[in-house]
Amino acid sequence: MTTATAVSSAITATGLSKSYGDKVVLDSIDLHIPQGTVFALLGPNGAGKTTTVQILSTLISADAGAAHVGGHDLVREPRAVRDAIGVTGQFAALDNLLTAEENLLLMADLQHLPRREGRRRAAELLRRFELTEAARKQVSTFSGGMRRKLDLAMTLVGDPRIIFLDEPTTGLDPRSRRAMWEIIRGLVADDGVTIFLTTQYLEEADQLADRIAVLDHGKLVAEGTADELKRLIPGGHISLRFADPSGLESAAALFASAARDNEALTLQIPGDGSIPALRAVLDALDNASVKAEALTVRTPDLDDVFLTLTGRAQSGAGVNSLKENAR
Ligand SMILES: Nc1ncnc2c1ncn2[C@@H]1O[C@H](COP(=O)(O)OP(=O)(O)OP(=O)(O)O)[C@@H](O)[C@H]1O
Ligand SMILES: [Mg+2]
Repeated sequence: MTTATAVSSAITATGLSKSYGDKVVLDSIDLHIPQGTVFALLGPNGAGKTTTVQILSTLISADAGAAHVGGHDLVREPRAVRDAIGVTGQFAALDNLLTAEENLLLMADLQHLPRREGRRRAAELLRRFELTEAARKQVSTFSGGMRRKLDLAMTLVGDPRIIFLDEPTTGLDPRSRRAMWEIIRGLVADDGVTIFLTTQYLEEADQLADRIAVLDHGKLVAEGTADELKRLIPGGHISLRFADPSGLESAAALFASAARDNEALTLQIPGDGSIPALRAVLDALDNASVKAEALTVRTPDLDDVFLTLTGRAQSGAGVNSLKENAR
């Protein structure tokens, strides 16, 4: 029996752990991913991203913990999980000696689609991925971007409701990356699928994901929306520009921690970029009847977040307090 919560969440995991020998690769991972959303697992090389995908897609088993994927228990109902998901691995799983079309038809056969349906599906996917012209060409002649697209098309042959994409755009040029993003957005918007993607690109997570989790050394060190993650990191500020030196002078007297630039007539006030912080600054200016000419808010970008959260210089205590904030 599927409960209401099981229907609304595509993936849930509690306490997922995995070790190879005495090396702990995943250390008690908890996940909750609602249906129809994009979840990005972000982390540096060796963080455990692929291992997480392999466990959730039943390719390998966890040492501890439990997970439901598509409402099915990973250990008790692995077949049902496999029927619900599609996986595009970190390295393309294509037969180089076959054409694009032959690869897709082979996949349709593996999925036990009737011949006609398989042909229809292959043609539709080739069109959708703008590979129709290359359909009869051997995959060995394809560029990296074409391979990634065909690899994703292979995953879609079975019409999965939940799709795992392990580094879908690594090695792609900016144009191909954007094309892939459009395809991924389309899958969510048009087909309502759930996407679990791993990436090392902050911008990718920022562009695509509803929620982002940062994995480092097998632990989730932060989780939230891109904006929530950016607010965890100090380094943001509010910048005010004034029409004349006297305005700057009066404002500088109000904010002891601000840095001023007399040439540019600007004042930089450290802050997290939140609305309350902004309001406090505006109220202080108002109360002192100081007029600013322009105001900009700089929140740290995800690069700042990533480097801070996964930085080797970061002390354990710092990471833990960030994690507390993220909850
Ligand atoms: N079969 C295995 N046997 C032993 N160690 C393994 C095995 N698979 C993965 N590991 C180790 O587990 C750790 C996590 O690997 P994983 O492939 O999950 O990282 P990743 O985050 O996907 O990295 P990348 O960004 O490089 O793809 C690494 O230290 C890796 O060496
Ligand atoms: Mg990997």
